[in-house]
Amino acid sequence: MNVQSYLEVTTEQELFDVALRGFLLTSVLVLGGLLVFGSPYGSQTNYNGIFTISGRAAWIFMELVSPVVFIYSYFSSNLAFLLPSKIQPLERSASTRSLVFVALWIAHYVNRAIIYPLRQPSRKNMHIGIMLCAVVFNTVNAYLNGRWLATAFSSHATEPFNSWDVRFVLGTALFVAGMAGNIHHDNLLMRLRSKKSKGNGSRYLIPYGSLFSFVSCPHFFCELAEWAGFALASGSPAAWAFVLNILCNLAPRAYFIHRWYIGTFAVYPKSRKAIIPFVF
Ligand SMILES: NC(=O)c1ccc[n+]([C@@H]2O[C@H](COP(=O)([O-])OP(=O)(O)OC[C@H]3O[C@@H](n4cnc5c(N)ncnc54)[C@H](OP(=O)(O)O)[C@@H]3O)[C@@H](O)[C@H]2O)c1
Repeated sequence: MNVQSYLEVTTEQELFDVALRGFLLTSVLVLGGLLVFGSPYGSQTNYNGIFTISGRAAWIFMELVSPVVFIYSYFSSNLAFLLPSKIQPLERSASTRSLVFVALWIAHYVNRAIIYPLRQPSRKNMHIGIMLCAVVFNTVNAYLNGRWLATAFSSHATEPFNSWDVRFVLGTALFVAGMAGNIHHDNLLMRLRSKKSKGNGSRYLIPYGSLFSFVSCPHFFCELAEWAGFALASGSPAAWAFVLNILCNLAPRAYFIHRWYIGTFAVYPKSRKAIIPFVF
């Protein structure tokens, strides 16, 4: 869709489609940007200039955007007052079953935006530009996912027991397993940081245990599995676009972190891959 046809959008459905296509395009742009500029936060940058802010505060702010926009986008009966007056808003038609996905989304982001950063022993300062990019990303992602569940999901939910239910069960199980694995490996990194604060070495140490035996970034691998489960269970195109974005964001970041571990620690286990066990 070109700029001219974008200006001619008359319904929220068309706007949604434009935003979804734009969001898909973002994944390619993110991949290109990361390959050129790296993934400059945490271990991947030493910048600590005037544009940095508290890593913990930045993290909480940028991640809280997601559940807030998602809840608004899902529960609001229509978003008319946010849209230009010529645009006809989508009508809410959410089924009870879609609430399962609302619960999964909220569960993930209560951890990601509140529990996780507050439990972390420390977090490096972050460039404000990274935080703003994450805010934009989370806003569009949460709008698309919340809105799709609120307006398009019901057609699936009215089907009788069929292959879709198998996908629902498998996908939900994958989401739960992925989230558990993500939290578990985040916890291992937190323990490593606590060890450091007791005087056992530098800011970063080599992580061991569980899937760290196979990859440098198992928390990213589990995050990917988690959202692939969400997309599989919901069948949502917005959720699949989110999965593609995560892949384009976290696969290069995992590669940079993996390369950084190898360059930083002479004894770093050679058999580990970056993010996907035995593959990459
Ligand atoms: N869905 C998405 O698109 C998306 C995007 C990004 C992140 N996430 C999720 O958010 C979580 C955090 O991501 P992240 O990129 O910040 O991960 P990360 O770079 O691995 O860092 C995670 C935390 O662990 C600390 N840490 C990392 N390596 C360490 C080591 N070797 N020794 C001691 N401490 C170490 C970091 O400290 P410093 O702050 O001091 O570096 C940071 O506080 C992950 O679970 C990830 O899956 C999701």
